[in-house]
Amino acid sequence: MHLVERFREWRIDRMTDRIARRPRGRKARETYGAEDAHSFLWEPVLDALALGPDDRLLDVGCGGGAFLARARESGCAIAGLDHSRDMVRLARAKTGARVELAEATAMPFAAGEFTAVSCLVAFFFFADPVAALREMLRVLDPERGRVAVMTTAPEAKGTRAAPYPLASRGHFHTDDELVAFASEAGFRGARMAHRDEWSQLLVAQP
Ligand SMILES: C[S@@+](CC[C@H](N)C(=O)[O-])C[C@H]1O[C@@H](n2cnc3c(N)ncnc32)[C@H](O)[C@@H]1O
Repeated sequence: MHLVERFREWRIDRMTDRIARRPRGRKARETYGAEDAHSFLWEPVLDALALGPDDRLLDVGCGGGAFLARARESGCAIAGLDHSRDMVRLARAKTGARVELAEATAMPFAAGEFTAVSCLVAFFFFADPVAALREMLRVLDPERGRVAVMTTAPEAKGTRAAPYPLASRGHFHTDDELVAFASEAGFRGARMAHRDEWSQLLVAQP
């Protein structure tokens, strides 16, 4: 690759990381520290998980913890995971919960520790989606567990939901692909619980 092209690619990677893939810096902390970060996506996820006081929820790629704070209103226990140091600090400060600095494919949690796993606006950054789903399955209670993954649809590429050049760094999967990934990871009953023009909600059980 030509040097100019390599520099351009490096800049896009750096920008993608700072803004969304591994957010850091003041602007990112403002964006994800907001009480309502991505709140327009919360209700379908909360509907699908139907959380209650007996639940233990893990949010994967939790960002600043806004969804966790909202989910806790159900009375459930909460925990988070993110590979951005700034986001882990924010989420810990916002929720006071256990929030781990870790990769979605190597979670520092015991098998069966959670009854629910959520993942909002992060899945399209996972290079190995089946490996991430396998980890979600491992940490879920085999009897009561359920997962809800809210991600961005291929149709959103190039729109304000997934603008270029950031969109060039995402993995946008069709509904059928998402369902197939979950089945391959070992989940049962995988299906799309919500679909609109730009977002997809995959749900499944162990
Ligand atoms: C666009 S932000 C969304 C944050 C939050 N879920 C929300 O809806 O506001 C994506 C988050 O996923 C995290 N993330 C991306 N890839 C990850 C990975 N492989 N492992 C853990 N966290 C990851 C990023 O650090 C970032 O905080």
